[in-house]
Amino acid sequence: MEFVSVVFDKSLSALLKPVGRQLDYLYNYGCNVNELKEQARKLEERRETISRQVEEAIRNAKNIENPVNSWLDKVKTNLNEVESFLSDGDHQKTGCSNGFPNLKLRHLLGRKAKKMSSQCGQLLQEANFSAISYHPKSEATEAALNDSVYVPCKSRDAVMEKVMKALRDPTAKMVGIYGQGGVGKTTLVKAVGRTAKKEKLYNVVVMANITSTPDVRKIQGEIADMLGLRLDDESLIGRAARLRQRLEKEKNALVILDDLWVGFDLSMLGILFNDDGENDISQMPINDVLNSTQNNLKPEKSPVDSVRCKILVTSRSKEVMSNKMDIRESSIFSLDVMAEEEAVELFNKVAGVTEDDPELKSLSAKIANKCAKLPMAIITAGKALKNNKSKFAWEIALQQMERQEIVEVLKPVEFSTKLSYDHMQSEELKSFFLLCAHISEDPSIVDLVKYCIGLGIFQGVYTVKEA
Ligand SMILES: Nc1ncnc2c1ncn2[C@@H]1O[C@H](COP(=O)(O)OP(=O)(O)OP(=O)(O)O)[C@@H](O)[C@H]1O
Ligand SMILES: [Mg+2]
Repeated sequence: MEFVSVVFDKSLSALLKPVGRQLDYLYNYGCNVNELKEQARKLEERRETISRQVEEAIRNAKNIENPVNSWLDKVKTNLNEVESFLSDGDHQKTGCSNGFPNLKLRHLLGRKAKKMSSQCGQLLQEANFSAISYHPKSEATEAALNDSVYVPCKSRDAVMEKVMKALRDPTAKMVGIYGQGGVGKTTLVKAVGRTAKKEKLYNVVVMANITSTPDVRKIQGEIADMLGLRLDDESLIGRAARLRQRLEKEKNALVILDDLWVGFDLSMLGILFNDDGENDISQMPINDVLNSTQNNLKPEKSPVDSVRCKILVTSRSKEVMSNKMDIRESSIFSLDVMAEEEAVELFNKVAGVTEDDPELKSLSAKIANKCAKLPMAIITAGKALKNNKSKFAWEIALQQMERQEIVEVLKPVEFSTKLSYDHMQSEELKSFFLLCAHISEDPSIVDLVKYCIGLGIFQGVYTVKEA
């Protein structure tokens, strides 16, 4: 008997539940509509906040996460539906007419309001995004590392191998390459950077040109560009702190600092030297920061593991590496001039000399030797003679080189540069070359174009747009 009563109770409650729900739609029509209005208001507020974040991210050249975009689309559709539902004229007809409320309509609209309100609730729950936007993959690194061609040869490959080994050594915090100007340090570190990226040795590889007159703001900017980071901060401290935060987020990073002439305080770039932050520029008063920039403070301690950056430095001076940057002896490598046969091979490659041209080949070997086995001089001479393959012109070039050697007026690099200048095909190009030599290292293209127009170097060109 008891069993029958339990079964009856259960069946009855199963039967009454849907009935209760339908009655709820009918009787709580007003509450359901108010509840929908409240949920739609909350959703609209959340949409505004997220839209503002999206707009700010777009202004900062960031990409928006896909789920955020699709959430915004869904919310837009949803809120439009809610709006047209709430403004539907049928709501006016739910009141009493002929003394009776329109039960069917109340039930229908009450049910719809409940359903829409739960959809709004669902969208509000989905709005807990872990991230709104992300930095697009920076192309600055690719551009900086790929703008030179490394021609492999035994002497360079051997140094490259040693550098790669040092980069893999967790105890070597800094690695240095030194050698005379034009020997190929920059070309080599770019090749190292490309290999390190390809082998996934580092998450990120960034490179900055320090030069003999370091401009901290510009260097910070170069590194930030490569990290896809926008540095809004005005002060050097603020910028260093932002770079530090960003570098700390990377599991491991290779920072290539090319062409150091004096000691350089790495904390200027947001790279810490010790745990207690003693040299942390972001915690220094601004005057100390400016003084330390001017005095070229030398780092006192090695960077710590927590920074997880490895630093690859190039300089013409070994002294800068060991005394100013405190790089340990075993991590400093010398890059010397090329071997004789390498120099000839490189010259032939650049000047386009082949086996079919035995006369030019014998001249090219002599010219390459006069370039002191220095890649810079070899490449410049090779490019100058590439477009003039007459044996006569090559003989004259060789004779001039031999004469220079006797009187020692010009060094090989200077001679090859003059050769390159003499072989330029137009006066316009020559004036442009001289202008480049006059203005600072690394001039901006826009500045160059402006000067050219101002000085009337580009014939028949009077505006930047035309240029
Ligand atoms: N392995 C190489 N393959 C091809 N070209 C090379 C190589 N090494 C050097 N060069 C060329 O020689 C020239 C000088 O090289 P690079 O700029 O790397 O010298 P550097 O040692 O950095 O000089 P600096 O001290 O003036 O900065 C460049 O034109 C470069 O393209
Ligand atoms: Mg260089």
